Amino acid sequence: MFRTACNSQERAKCLLSIDKLSDVKFVVSLSLHESTTEKFRMVIPAHRFLLAIASPVFYVMFCGILAERNNYIDLSDCDYQGMMEFLRYIYTEEVGFNGDNISQLIYLAEKYMIPSLTNRCILFLREHLDSSNIFCVLKHSKLIENKSLWRSCWKFIDKEAKDVLESSEFFEMDRSDLIELVKRNTLNVKEIELFTAINKWAANQCKKLGLDTVERRQILGDDIIDNLRFPVMEENEFNVVKSTNLLTKEKTQEVLNNFADSRWPIRFLRHKRQYDSSSQRRTLYHRGQILDIFD
Ligand SMILES: *[C@@H]1O[C@H](CO)[C@@H](O)[C@H](O)[C@H]1NC(C)=O
Ligand SMILES: *[C@@H]1O[C@H](CO)[C@@H](O)[C@H](O)[C@H]1NC(C)=O
Repeated sequence: MFRTACNSQERAKCLLSIDKLSDVKFVVSLSLHESTTEKFRMVIPAHRFLLAIASPVFYVMFCGILAERNNYIDLSDCDYQGMMEFLRYIYTEEVGFNGDNISQLIYLAEKYMIPSLTNRCILFLREHLDSSNIFCVLKHSKLIENKSLWRSCWKFIDKEAKDVLESSEFFEMDRSDLIELVKRNTLNVKEIELFTAINKWAANQCKKLGLDTVERRQILGDDIIDNLRFPVMEENEFNVVKSTNLLTKEKTQEVLNNFADSRWPIRFLRHKRQYDSSSQRRTLYHRGQILDIFD
């Protein structure tokens, strides 16, 4: 079997997951989602030498002063298929994943420090952004600290803002990302639609935390609410805002006064968000101040 393999990739492929010459076994569960009591354990045979030359983490694990002597290594942070695909990449540079199961590979690539695999995942994610996975990818982009993927996510959110805000994934958005979102000048969405989505996000958050929906104002806080641009709404749209009771009386009055006389001082920004597909400049505003400009 080994004799017919004509290059190193083919030779390594012959070794993948067979016991022959194996000197280490990974013990993983069949699925991460099984209940812990009845986890079905699987054993994956591997080869220290191959792992150590692919990953500095395995190198230390097998060759360092505190080298692992145990031949069986229990892994509880990945499942059989995830580990198999990860090893397949190490042995053969081939790997199979899709939008639903890429997380484990990104995790393993980071944990064992294999940047070429991380890059492969990034390229895939960048080409497969859609409104159902965008917040998940945004989280990944922060986890792996890839600024360019992070920017691609925000560009996508700008462009598809309406769809993104209507997706159920939107409810999973972190509060810190929501602050980022509401500060964006370049969202392709009407202010009233943005308001409605954020109000729903807050109501959902209250539900999750077992709070009354009255608490939405506290959940959002001034840093989100004050970055909404009520003055750009039509008056009938602002009536919708009023009916939610999200704004304090004082802020509501401020907006109404400003509708009546635009010279009235107001804390909210008064210019519409502008999506411009041709523009590479992205500007963030906060209380009328330009915070950050990047390409
Ligand atoms: C992801 O799912 C595909 C299709 O079921 C499968 O071929 C692939 O091995 C899976 N990858 C991982 C990392 O689980
Ligand atoms: C982000 O990922 C891309 C594509 O893999 C890569 O070319 C780039 O160097 C990465 N940037 C950072 C800061 O890691």
